[in-house]
Amino acid sequence: MEFAQLIRQRYSVRSYKSDPVPDAVLDRVLEAARLAPTAANRQPFRVLVIRTEGREEELGRLYRRPWFVEAPLVIGVCCLPAEAWVRRDGKSYGDVDAAIVMDHLVLAATAEGLGTCWVANFDPAAAREILALPAGVEPIAFSPLGYAADQPPERKRKPLTELLLRERWS
Ligand SMILES: Cc1cc2nc3c(=O)[nH]c(=O)nc-3n(C[C@H](O)[C@H](O)[C@H](O)COP(=O)(O)O)c2cc1C
Repeated sequence: MEFAQLIRQRYSVRSYKSDPVPDAVLDRVLEAARLAPTAANRQPFRVLVIRTEGREEELGRLYRRPWFVEAPLVIGVCCLPAEAWVRRDGKSYGDVDAAIVMDHLVLAATAEGLGTCWVANFDPAAAREILALPAGVEPIAFSPLGYAADQPPERKRKPLTELLLRERWS
């Protein structure tokens, strides 16, 4: 798929079929996550692959929307802050790294005809408990991974003229 088309094709899918994701497809999506760039190549992240079958109720506590557990898989991206690159003024880039990993995953999934939806509004305490996350592992984002059962809504975006600055702020 051409890149411009891929970017337009992706949208936040909030209804999924229960059809399985073939292992080879999942492998390609995960490989895209592995190849994501990270600050100083520290790779301070882990990707959790969670099968939803039989765990719908438990996983539903993580994020209370029915569509969150409709797909056969939920993917979680976690940050390991202790391994992240920190700029000399103290700013850590671990969250940025994790976001790039998730975006690679999301775009690769789109290229495979799969649907995803970033979920940051999950319950972090429930995520820790249900997924047995040790201290020092921070869940950053989740997404269902499966085949869409809805249609893309109209895309609402600010015009580029509002978002873009040239040379300097003012
Ligand atoms: C960092 C981040 C967190 C998000 N968290 C949630 C969420 O918790 N629940 C949800 O339904 N959508 C979530 N979204 C999806 C956004 O609402 C969505 O990307 C935005 O409205 C644009 O729509 P589109 O993805 O269909 O283009 C999140 C997106 C991002 C990038």
